[in-house]
Amino acid sequence: MPGWINPPPKEPTKSREEFRREREEKVGWLTRQGYLRSECIKAAMLKVPREDFIPFFYKDYAYEEVPLPLPGEHATISCPHSYPLFYEPLGLDRGHSFLEVGLGSGYGTALAREIVGEKGQVVSIEIDPLTLAFAEDNLKKTGYRDIVLVQGDGGLGYQGKAPYNRICMTAACDEIPPPLLEQLKMAGRLIAPVKEGAAQNLVLVKNEPEGALIEVICQVLYISLRGRYGE
Ligand SMILES: C[S@@+](CC[C@H](N)C(=O)[O-])C[C@H]1O[C@@H](n2cnc3c(N)ncnc32)[C@H](O)[C@@H]1O
Repeated sequence: MPGWINPPPKEPTKSREEFRREREEKVGWLTRQGYLRSECIKAAMLKVPREDFIPFFYKDYAYEEVPLPLPGEHATISCPHSYPLFYEPLGLDRGHSFLEVGLGSGYGTALAREIVGEKGQVVSIEIDPLTLAFAEDNLKKTGYRDIVLVQGDGGLGYQGKAPYNRICMTAACDEIPPPLLEQLKMAGRLIAPVKEGAAQNLVLVKNEPEGALIEVICQVLYISLRGRYGE
């Protein structure tokens, strides 16, 4: 994983109650830091047990600001602050049809499922079969059964449920894959880490009638996209 050092694996010692307290503290911290603003994203982060999406020997680090390794090739669960960092500018909300490229642990997918609610829809694509199996198991155990999980190259999007109100890429690309832009609804938004030399920008695309509006939010550090539009 680029630029990050994994904490040492260890037997988990924390109780459900300790994790619940850490989750509440994390949501408070994210709110005070200005990452978390909307009520529906806040409610989702308070509800989804992040520790249930983390490999056994890393569970105690669930609420620390560090990405953690997942089964599969280079897959990681992103730091807690990454989720509001992406979902707030995306304006993810009730009723949205949402596509995620890079399922990872399934944590971001579960948050999105909570945010879009019953009338919304969540589709997530993962290229690595080992990572997909891990996420599938996590989502089943936590009771998220109505998410469309796809194994394949997310750079190609998923025509079966297109078009989408919101698209989120969780792996860094050289340029936003054209199929994703084609599968974005008018007035839809897409967010992605886009490489610029050795750096990466978190880029927000707003699909407006007069053309795509592009905004750089900040610099980030994500694993590289694989497949046709990646490495
Ligand atoms: C930073 S991780 C995702 C973290 C995830 N949001 C979570 O909550 O755990 C990025 C993921 O993108 C996946 N990935 C990389 N290239 C991909 C592609 N072309 N299509 C789908 N998934 C891809 C990786 O295997 C990895 O699981």
